[in-house]
Amino acid sequence: MNRRQFVTSSLAAAGVTLLANNRFTAAADQVPGSVPSSSIQHARFPDNFLWGTATAAYQVEGAWNEDGKGESIWDKFTHTVGKVKGGTTGDVACDQYHLYRQDMALAKRLNQKSYRFSISWPRIQPSGTGVPNPKGIDHYSRLVDAILENGIRPFCTIYHWDLPQTLEERGGWPNRDLAGYYADYAGILAKHLGDRITVWAPFNMPWSFTYMGYGAGAFPPSRANYGDFLKAAHTVTLAQAEALRAIKAASSKATVGSAYGMCPAYPKSDSEADRAATSRYHAMNNVFFLEAAMHGRYPKAFVAEPPYELMGFKPGDEKIMYAPLDWVGFHYYTRRIVSDASNASSSAGGSFSGTEIETDSEGARDPYTRFRAVMPTEGPVTESGLEVWPRGIYDLVTQISKEYDHPIIEITESGCGYLDAPYEKANGRVPDTRRIEFFRQELAELARAIADGARVRSFHAWSLLDNFEWANGHCERYGLIYVDYRDQKRTIKDSGFWYGRVSTSNRLDV
Ligand code: FCB
Repeated sequence: MNRRQFVTSSLAAAGVTLLANNRFTAAADQVPGSVPSSSIQHARFPDNFLWGTATAAYQVEGAWNEDGKGESIWDKFTHTVGKVKGGTTGDVACDQYHLYRQDMALAKRLNQKSYRFSISWPRIQPSGTGVPNPKGIDHYSRLVDAILENGIRPFCTIYHWDLPQTLEERGGWPNRDLAGYYADYAGILAKHLGDRITVWAPFNMPWSFTYMGYGAGAFPPSRANYGDFLKAAHTVTLAQAEALRAIKAASSKATVGSAYGMCPAYPKSDSEADRAATSRYHAMNNVFFLEAAMHGRYPKAFVAEPPYELMGFKPGDEKIMYAPLDWVGFHYYTRRIVSDASNASSSAGGSFSGTEIETDSEGARDPYTRFRAVMPTEGPVTESGLEVWPRGIYDLVTQISKEYDHPIIEITESGCGYLDAPYEKANGRVPDTRRIEFFRQELAELARAIADGARVRSFHAWSLLDNFEWANGHCERYGLIYVDYRDQKRTIKDSGFWYGRVSTSNRLDV
């Protein structure tokens, strides 16, 4: 970083808007990975593009034990001393369980067209099976009404990680019975809410919660066993397909897609071995569940044949897991550099920071996929520790478009963690310049992918508001709206006002 860039980023870090109208200078253009300011000025989005934001039940709702809600694995995890940075929990979070009307009015102020939220399974079925809890259904029914009253499309994620604790006690996701329980739960939602919700994603980031929960132990239920991960992943594949059928049986208007986590992966070298390892990474981390749904098979994620026995795969499962999606949804945060680790001894696991940074040790991640994936730091790094690499979204969108025959794509999440807070000398505004820059550059690359033919119909910024960031607790802020957790006061950040203008004009130089 040269002196000028250092000064620019330091001032931006202090929340100072250096340039009139937040326009870029030559210095910003020189940041590794950044896109030229002309691309930002020329970027245009289609007229009916759905500008949205995303949240997850556990991260925003609070009310952890109200109205008959059962305990989830995240309640148990955060109530265990030592698991969450800062010792906070999601017990109250943003209190959106009570403040949803206010939050939807704020979304409307930002001209939002889509709101992606998730439903807490233990609010609907406190112990994971059986008759639904009417108070849980009523809550989400009122939430969906509030979303629609504000002219916003409700996009429902059925599962964003908060498994009923009772089901974990029955073996958790490695127990194949969960596929059936989950499909029942999904069917209940479609029956009660399917008259108003038409866009459903069964799972948020299925690789992450199965691997981090059962393979690496960084997330609840804190198990570190590769076989458990494989079994959990296979149950989730079956569950995804069974849910799609249950939802469509209960609601003729339903469309079903996904909310996968994906990182575009680049080989460390041009060697055949590194390129093959990169394909295995893509198969394992990006398209494992997508390929299963679209083609009823697993992609080539393993050096040898898939370890079917260890996965608990039964003859005929290929027919169960086949359930072509109506559209393909995925997140983009950052990228990976992948190398072959065929000859390394496996480390089994890896550790994680946040939901996106994996720090694989020197060895192979496991004895079956045998690659090593790292997040580079060539571009600037956010306060949450993720490398900013705008081009990644272009590469990912064009790759998925090509591999899956140009599906309709929803960008289900993208965003950046910066800690900017209200600044008294700026009349209490939150001048989060770095977030505006992040989105401007990334969205310029998304516009380029659309111009090149990708059928992207939405973009959901993570997140509408600052919220409980899993094991990092309140130490990260991803919102377009600042939340003061002492009194739940919301303050729209400069990035929120900017995003609202983008949504109205379908352009970025606003
Ligand atoms: C994604 C998660 C979301 C949030 C963001 C920062 O991986 O889906 O819940 O934690 O990261």
